[in-house]
Amino acid sequence: KILVLDFGSQLTQLIARRVREQQVYCELHPFDVSDDFVRSFNPQGIILSGGPNSVYEATDWKAPQAVFELGVPVLGICYGMQTMAEQLGGKVESSNKREFGYAEMRARGHSKLFSGLQDRESDQGHGLLDVWMSHGDKVTQLPPGFKVIGDNESTPVAAMADEDRGYYAVQFHPEVTHTLKGKEMFARFVHDICGCGRDWTMPNYVEEAVAKIRAQVGNEEVILGLSGGVDSSVAAALIHRAIGDQLTCVFVDNGLLRLNEAEQVMETFARGLGVKVVHVDATEQFLGHLKGVSDPEQKRKIIGREFVEVFDAESKKLVNAKWLAQGTIYPDVIESAGAKTGKAHTIKSHHNVGGLPEHMKLKLLEPLRELFKDEVRELGVALGLPHDMVYRHPFPGPGLGVRILGEVRKDFADLLRRADAIFIDELRAAGWYEKTSQAFAVFLPVKSVGVMGDGRTYEYVVALRAVETQDFMTAHWAELPHSLLGKVSNRIINEVRGINRVVYDISGKPPATIEWE
Ligand code: XMP
Repeated sequence: KILVLDFGSQLTQLIARRVREQQVYCELHPFDVSDDFVRSFNPQGIILSGGPNSVYEATDWKAPQAVFELGVPVLGICYGMQTMAEQLGGKVESSNKREFGYAEMRARGHSKLFSGLQDRESDQGHGLLDVWMSHGDKVTQLPPGFKVIGDNESTPVAAMADEDRGYYAVQFHPEVTHTLKGKEMFARFVHDICGCGRDWTMPNYVEEAVAKIRAQVGNEEVILGLSGGVDSSVAAALIHRAIGDQLTCVFVDNGLLRLNEAEQVMETFARGLGVKVVHVDATEQFLGHLKGVSDPEQKRKIIGREFVEVFDAESKKLVNAKWLAQGTIYPDVIESAGAKTGKAHTIKSHHNVGGLPEHMKLKLLEPLRELFKDEVRELGVALGLPHDMVYRHPFPGPGLGVRILGEVRKDFADLLRRADAIFIDELRAAGWYEKTSQAFAVFLPVKSVGVMGDGRTYEYVVALRAVETQDFMTAHWAELPHSLLGKVSNRIINEVRGINRVVYDISGKPPATIEWE
């Protein structure tokens, strides 16, 4: 396994995912873990991430000394390269030229990291690689034992290595897809240089996870809040595989779900997999408490609170339950170096289904804690869940509650559900569902004038939103074909009485957010 130490780059999670893609297990930890931690982790290799600092300013942002004492290969990326250079006796300086974006690098000296890899060849027969650079500082003096293994005009030390010790460092970012041979570079590092095997696969993981759950839970009972989302669904399927009827799922219908969602969940889990599912229809309770409330944050709080209440009441009935299972995934538990700077702002309070009622005194079972989202999906497929369920777009915990602007009413929710289903149907039919990261309809409680047949209409507006994004932190609106938008608009207006106008949202994030509330 590989240890990835995070120096605060936005890209650190991508490094970990690239390693996992090579079927090698890795974990991500902040750079300032202790020497003891590094030793007891017992990695076969270590990767030092990029980060926003300068080694000569942030003098305490260093890799633990143990990293260079374990005798295992180390790969430094960007800031990771600079701190490696510094800590091993080289020199880093601020350069007058910042390099940002595409660059061409010349591979030199037949290193294990690059040899035989090239995007094209130079006139002198050197392999040339397209790489993605983003840096202001650069290494100006190699540490003893190192040689240059990649360069270009503006960055004479674009990559360096001490191959005897297995130390490699690159100034560019191999983890982004703009570095065309990045994937191969990770393969070289983890397999050829560190000697890791390909044992991290989801079918393997099922067996391991099943055994672990059985050992943990014994013959005690487990309760899980099933939302229909990917994470709780995969967690339910996995735990059910491990302990069968010792698992009871509680599915709370808050009246703000998508069309036929409750039926689908019951179909897949209760009838399909034979999972025990308690279906609670709490529509009236939720909508009752939302009456007259139009502030988005207030709505989120109410929905979150009511969920806990309903879930709590149900779980009290399951007197034998000793465990609460949750679909927590790896990105939720990673403690990043970036968090230390305290720069993260809360723009919206996110209430996810499955919030832990503190007083319940149940033990926590989180079988997906080690997995990235794409791995959770693969696991779901390996467990036999339907592809459409596992590759579904994310749906926020408060559901349609934040897609009906202002006050939430049942009649609005009913209109929105149907409009949304038409939009998603057509996206799927046109092959656009997979090309977008999230798509949905929003109900606008304003009326506009229309004409239908010979009559004047005065009805509500629906906005369509479809975005493309990697991480949901930034997003582009999807450039859906006009003909597709036209078809969706026609169908919604014709089939959903009460809507006479459809608009398409062309705002990016930032400055807009993905959801409208
Ligand atoms: P925004 O609107 O902040 O959304 O750009 C980013 C991602 O988060 C989802 N989202 C939520 N998820 N509870 C959730 O579980 C919430 O309150 C919530 N608000 C937004 C949103 O759907 C998008 O995927």
